[in-house]
Amino acid sequence: MFDLLIRGGTIATASDVFEADVAVKDGVIVQIGRDLGPSAETVGASGRYVLPGGIDSHVHISQPSGEGIVMADDFESGTRSALFGGNTTIMPFCLQRKGEGLRAALKDYHALAEGNCYTDVSFHMIVSDPSAQVLGQELPALVEDGYTSLKVFMTYEDLRLSDAQILGVLDTARRTGALVMVHCENEDAIRYLVGVHEAEGRVEPKSHATTRPIAAEREATHRALSLAEIVDTPLVIVHVSNRESMEEIERARRRGRKVIGETCPQYLMLTAEDLDGMDWEGAKFVCSPPPRDKESQVACWEGIERGVFDLYSSDHCPFRYEDDHGKLNPKGRENFRHIPNGIPGIETRLPILFSEGVMKGRIDLPRFVALTSTNHAKTYGLYPRKGTIAIGADADLAIWDPNETRTIRHADLHDASDYSPYEGLAITGWPTTIIRGGKVVLEAGELTEAARAGRYLERKRSPLAGPV
Ligand code: URP
Ligand code: ZN
Ligand code: ZN
Repeated sequence: MFDLLIRGGTIATASDVFEADVAVKDGVIVQIGRDLGPSAETVGASGRYVLPGGIDSHVHISQPSGEGIVMADDFESGTRSALFGGNTTIMPFCLQRKGEGLRAALKDYHALAEGNCYTDVSFHMIVSDPSAQVLGQELPALVEDGYTSLKVFMTYEDLRLSDAQILGVLDTARRTGALVMVHCENEDAIRYLVGVHEAEGRVEPKSHATTRPIAAEREATHRALSLAEIVDTPLVIVHVSNRESMEEIERARRRGRKVIGETCPQYLMLTAEDLDGMDWEGAKFVCSPPPRDKESQVACWEGIERGVFDLYSSDHCPFRYEDDHGKLNPKGRENFRHIPNGIPGIETRLPILFSEGVMKGRIDLPRFVALTSTNHAKTYGLYPRKGTIAIGADADLAIWDPNETRTIRHADLHDASDYSPYEGLAITGWPTTIIRGGKVVLEAGELTEAARAGRYLERKRSPLAGPV
């Protein structure tokens, strides 16, 4: 007797598409075959796709932001929104503030997540203060404990690391088997351009894009890849926005480097023109790197299609728009420099790629699964427990109706922001039933009683980590 049977759907993994039933016992997949049963509970899936639940490995939730700025989502609203968008695991960032230890930051962050999650969660660290204690003791111990990835920044005054500091982090990562993600933008160049813009009185939201040009991202991408080469570590280049940065990734790969590339919906769907809205509306689209131009969109789609990108993540970083603690904070209403960086998108990530990618024939279903789930699990040490439909894997499944049409309206979404950057976008295909850990957690637009029981996931080391 199975606990749950998903009957008659079309299953897609990162390699295959086939029709079969999926049988679940004790939260894991125990059989895949035809005419399986009996089962205590059955979900009919004929005419629908049964896919591994989405894994969003780049998410910001309850992250301390600038003075007076508050992120819109906490774990409750952020993971709920993720679940409605077809995700069963998300990976938010635990921020180390300067002067703070990693353990202390983690303790606080776990307390925020505990008991409040609709998806499984696992944390990356953000290292902003790589002291001798952090690199010599805390980080190696945390990798042993399953915190096997971290992010470093080359921009943002309060987060950026010097090249020497980045080398120290990368070297520690190589020795301990951690995987490093890098935000690549040249802070000094940006600061210089901000000064020029302010001197000329150009302080509206669109200046966010012109003070963070492609060259600042391309240069930092090249530098990060060179630093990784110097100490012989793999690297994840996150939220890539343009062709020139993609070319840096490809060039490094041709030199034999292990590089994972990530892009996000904003670089496929938005442009810098969106930052030029009436009445400061452009603030809704302020994120870093900024959305670029049409050619960059085309380039990023090519990267999705031909494998420059391994990961497609949301970089969900939600701030409310009409809010003194959000985009329109008192200083942010006056000068783009004070508009918090980041946009919401955790619920719309998968439907956008399904609709614009699969339904428009740019990618096939296995590539969709790889980009949205399997590669995230493989990159960050969760595979094969997560990210696939296989015997022994957690029964985390999203059942998609490819015929469901919707128009994105923030009023229909479940995050705690007050807008969507994709308002009005027509979508074909939506995840209509979500199963997490073998339990139906979302059905016909309603959360079930089992929904709010997401677990924390300790991770193995990434198979990519270590010397190249
Ligand atoms: O603008 C963005 N992307 N904000 C989130 C923080 C980051 O850099 O990923
Ligand atoms: Zn970033
Ligand atoms: Zn981010």
